[in-house]
Amino acid sequence: MRQRTPAYIFIPLTLLAVILAFTMVTPVDVVPEPGFQGMIHNLLEHLKHVFVQGIFWAVLAVAIVMLLIINALNKVVEAERFKRLSQEEQNKYLEDSKIGYFKKLFGSAAKKQSDQEEEAIILDHGFDGIKELDNALPQWWLSLFYFGVVFMIVYVMAYSFTDFAHADTEYQEEMTYKDKVDSIWAVANDIDITGAVNKSNDPAIVEQGAKIFAQNCVQCHMEGGKGGIGPNLTDDYWVNHVEDSLFKNIYHIVYDGSPHNPQMRAFGQRKELSGLAIEKVASYVYFINQKEPTKTVAEGAAAPQGDLMEAWKQK
Ligand code: HEC
Repeated sequence: MRQRTPAYIFIPLTLLAVILAFTMVTPVDVVPEPGFQGMIHNLLEHLKHVFVQGIFWAVLAVAIVMLLIINALNKVVEAERFKRLSQEEQNKYLEDSKIGYFKKLFGSAAKKQSDQEEEAIILDHGFDGIKELDNALPQWWLSLFYFGVVFMIVYVMAYSFTDFAHADTEYQEEMTYKDKVDSIWAVANDIDITGAVNKSNDPAIVEQGAKIFAQNCVQCHMEGGKGGIGPNLTDDYWVNHVEDSLFKNIYHIVYDGSPHNPQMRAFGQRKELSGLAIEKVASYVYFINQKEPTKTVAEGAAAPQGDLMEAWKQK
């Protein structure tokens, strides 16, 4: 006679399944947060929505009562069966029941049948001397399988007939949310040349500009803007002078690119950099041009290119 699954295992498991089923059919109206912490946060939010429902507690109460009844019935059945066992079987059963549930579960996973038992379950077909045993499936495997079947049914039902999930509306909601974030971002970041302010006096902005320079510009203008493929940005000579002020001139060239040389591409027009990012990198270029010493050919910098701009000379 097999040992019964103890109440402290199947009652909590069933209650967990009830909670799980409820989380599936309960709609939530919070925007999900990303990442691992977000995952936990989302789960807690979801559970909160479940726990405030009266119907949830009602179902849970009914489930508990039914589980207790099932447990009592199991006990009666077990006692009845026990009476019908022979003395020897009864002793074996009592011996068995002393081993803890989990110990038995782990033991059963590693259990192997004796040679005679194996003989009895061998199937009478084979190929190349390979034969097959008609083994019973392990308990843990079967439990997982049945759990999977039940889960699948609840899931499909919830998916088809409740507010659990609507892929299309969820997609729409997500998109509306993203659009909102994008437009807020655009308002905050997309200044144009009229709104751009020279912030070369602000060390924090200059530092951020230096980072943008290192990511986008340094491969052509080299470290500190000493020049390579692109001209030396620390000297007083400029190929392009399309604006009255030096800062606006730099902003203009980075936003719209050089009209003469496509290598200096239009970072702003091509949306590679936002207006605000260009303001920062232009402040950085202004800083190295006006507030740092000019890098000379003797130091390995590029030779001057373009026209000497008296008005923009380092003071
Ligand atoms: C693929 C190479 C390349 C990259 C990347 C590049 N530039 Fe240029 N840049 C050039 C070239 C070449 C010129 C010269 C254009 C011309 O002759 O009109 C130039 C010109 C300039 C000028 C005007 C210089 C002058 O004398 O007129 C500025 C300012 C400038 N770049 C800043 C930047 C900034 C800031 C970045 C990064 C956001 C950047 N560049 C990225 C190649 C590049």
